[in-house]
Amino acid sequence: SVPAESKKYPLEDEPDDDGMSKKVTVLFGTQTGTAEGYAQAFAEEGRTRYNGEVTFKTVALDKYGDEADIFEAKLKEEQLVIFYLATYGDGEPTDDAADFYKWLTELSDDKGAWLSNLQYAVFGCGNSTYEHFCKVGKVVDERLSIFGAQRLVEVGLGDDDHVQEDDFNAWKEGLWSHLDKLLDSKIDVPPTPGSAYSIAIPEYKVEIHEQGTEMVQRDFSKSFKSFKRNRVIYDAHNPCKCFVAARRELHTELSDRSCTHVEFDISNTGLTYETGDHLAVYAENHKEYVEEAAQLLGQPLDLMFTLHIDDKVENPKNASLHAPFPGPVTLEAALRRYADLLSPPKKSVLTVLAAYASVKEEEARLRMLTSPFGKEEYNDYVVKSKRTLLEVMSDFPSVRVPLGVFFAVVSPRLQPRFYSISSSPKFSPDRIHISCALVLGTSASEKVFRGVSSTWLKGSIPAEEDQENASLAPIYVRTSTFRLPVDPKKPIVMVGPGTGLAPFRGFLQERAALKDSGVTLGPAILFFGCRSRKQDFIYEEELNDFVKRGVLSDLSVAFSREGTTKEYVQNKMMQQASAVWDHLSNGGYFYVCGDAKGMAKDVHRTLLTIIQEQDYVDGSKAEAIVKQMQNEGRYQRDVW
Ligand code: 2AM
Repeated sequence: SVPAESKKYPLEDEPDDDGMSKKVTVLFGTQTGTAEGYAQAFAEEGRTRYNGEVTFKTVALDKYGDEADIFEAKLKEEQLVIFYLATYGDGEPTDDAADFYKWLTELSDDKGAWLSNLQYAVFGCGNSTYEHFCKVGKVVDERLSIFGAQRLVEVGLGDDDHVQEDDFNAWKEGLWSHLDKLLDSKIDVPPTPGSAYSIAIPEYKVEIHEQGTEMVQRDFSKSFKSFKRNRVIYDAHNPCKCFVAARRELHTELSDRSCTHVEFDISNTGLTYETGDHLAVYAENHKEYVEEAAQLLGQPLDLMFTLHIDDKVENPKNASLHAPFPGPVTLEAALRRYADLLSPPKKSVLTVLAAYASVKEEEARLRMLTSPFGKEEYNDYVVKSKRTLLEVMSDFPSVRVPLGVFFAVVSPRLQPRFYSISSSPKFSPDRIHISCALVLGTSASEKVFRGVSSTWLKGSIPAEEDQENASLAPIYVRTSTFRLPVDPKKPIVMVGPGTGLAPFRGFLQERAALKDSGVTLGPAILFFGCRSRKQDFIYEEELNDFVKRGVLSDLSVAFSREGTTKEYVQNKMMQQASAVWDHLSNGGYFYVCGDAKGMAKDVHRTLLTIIQEQDYVDGSKAEAIVKQMQNEGRYQRDVW
């Protein structure tokens, strides 16, 4: 029978026979689901490993608690806590870990002695090409240790630039050997190396409906809604469906790339935003990919179904399943809205595919790719070539995955994409603007690769042009710390090449509104960079207008592909070194937005050089000055 309401297992702590409960709490902070996936896989493996004698409970940090008293009360009850923590943006915690991270980093050294009862381990997820690799994991590990909590194993550093899953697998093997001793459970079955999925494949129960059943609308709202001061809170669990009001191309016809300006209509929704915030957008998959996926699944697009979770007692393997998306839904809509079809599949996914291959050679190759011998080959075939799930599936045509397994473990849930908002509510209270560069490339199988969200935005239908067919997307606002100075007289220096310009357009709109209302503004200079004036100088007219109106004191543009030599924003900064230092040494604010891997690092180095040369100080003094600026909130970055 189908449960009336699907619930998430695991739940209550079951007392051990000696009266003490043997439990491990697995806490995670996740943005795109990776850290959560590891947390779930780890817990699932633990339940099997100890034959259900140890309770493994996985909880998102924001569900665990939101303030000091709660964190303290809850952690005092714990003996063993394993953390899976992703690092996001400029070395920041994920949204769900923000309160916990703030609490732990601000907890004064003499207030945390009680933590010495805790035994813990931390696995961080990050990307080593970024400056603050796994910062959140490292900081949490270090703070807990400072308070005397007992670290079971060294902090794990999962590197998304390589095969992060291998880092996870290696780290957890080390941790299990410690936990085996601590939990003192008899292990009857020798643990299976590699993935937890080799033990049991979780799956949803699929209820097929008759043709003509009505489909539920896309509904994110849970049975409860979060309210704060009587206002509905829109977040990842409860996004707000908004129409695309306006859309236009920002590049000229001479450009072979594309950047889309989109305005979402937020009037009468209660959704609000601040200049500098981020917008999360739930876009949908392109038709072409949806059709291909249905074909690979061997099911018709108009198949109408509902997913359910089986009773937990019968099926402990389904413990880590998410609540299914609402049904009845057609396969077409389910694939379009909920399935991540383009991310490279993890090894655990290949293990599942192997289980459903009917041709022996295909099964053998899939197993080889997930085995220790196949390490190199997996790296080449999947990671380096960024092979999508669909491409992998089409390379193994004998694989027929049931729908319940596909949506449970093969295709992760499609995640929202985040954009720096390019408007200010002072100028545009009813519309949130974003500026999105099209992600377009060649895929591993030499086909055109289209980024999910940028493609959807580019093809969206604005209400201004076609009210009836206007595109709708669930969105929510993610509060950021990227803010103009409270005192508008403070000088500001902004660096934002490409779509890094986005939040500064918002800043300038805000300054224009302030100026119009009679406020005196301090100086503001902007360094923008693009390939050439004739192709991708986005918002050129608006920027010139801000200069004319005195909202922007100086605009410097670096064109990287106009002359014989490349010119970048940092070259322009060097040319203006004395003006930059004048502003900054006068209590000014320095802002950088855009690419983290190259640009933001280079700009950072340039800033240090400018300080050294202009202030006649050595390298370490310049570093100290920059540190001081960061501490005072006078050096802010919005980088990705
Ligand atoms: P390029 O593509 O010609 O190399 C916006 O993307 C602009 O940023 C482009 O003009 C791009 O130049 C430039 N850019 C690329 N790498 C950069 C870096 N490390 N620092 C600053 N600008 C960079």
